[in-house]
Amino acid sequence: MLLHIPQVLSKQEVAALRAELAAHDWVDGARSSGAQAVALKDNRQFPVESPAFAGLSQRIAEALARHPLFVSAALPRQVLPPMFNCYSGGGRYGNHVDNALQRDRFSGLQVRTDVSTTVFLSEPEEYEGGELIVEDTYGEHEVKLAAGDAILYPATSLHRVEPVTRGARIAAFLWTQSWVRDAWQRKLLFELDMNILKLRAQLGDSEEVLGLTSTYHNLLRQWSE
Ligand code: NI
Repeated sequence: MLLHIPQVLSKQEVAALRAELAAHDWVDGARSSGAQAVALKDNRQFPVESPAFAGLSQRIAEALARHPLFVSAALPRQVLPPMFNCYSGGGRYGNHVDNALQRDRFSGLQVRTDVSTTVFLSEPEEYEGGELIVEDTYGEHEVKLAAGDAILYPATSLHRVEPVTRGARIAAFLWTQSWVRDAWQRKLLFELDMNILKLRAQLGDSEEVLGLTSTYHNLLRQWSE
């Protein structure tokens, strides 16, 4: 499931983040990758060693944690600190699948990457190219969203970032270990949750709505790990 999450950050929050990100020197993105990714990856990354990193990263994590769509779709158990990248001057990231296990640099914990999220920090008009292309069983999906919006997709998906031929594409990206490992089960729970919300808005807490809510929680109990 590919899910567009609108307005994770307000335009003001994006502008404040962008100003702080621009006040620092960025590093070659290939530095943080394995040997195979180095050949595919041509971008810059905000240095995670910078004293400013933790605060900026946390602002993205907190914005996602308070967004009901992210919580319902990702069912986050462990969220890795969001990082920041920038593509410009033809920079791109060729087709790849993200590493399955990653270390949280703050807690030291190993996290299984179930869900990938990109939060766009540049407006689409600011750059040419730079589409995130995600492949799933239904084919290729092209994603280029407004600044402050996010896309969520299974970390098992093959994906790439097309070359940025004009301007710069700045984004935050992160991985989440979900309570529910299986993407299909997460999708079912998300759809059930969204329909329960709509039914509750129409019918209030009717007996049927309470029944479906019980089913939701019992499925989650069954599938979470
Ligand atoms: Ni990736």
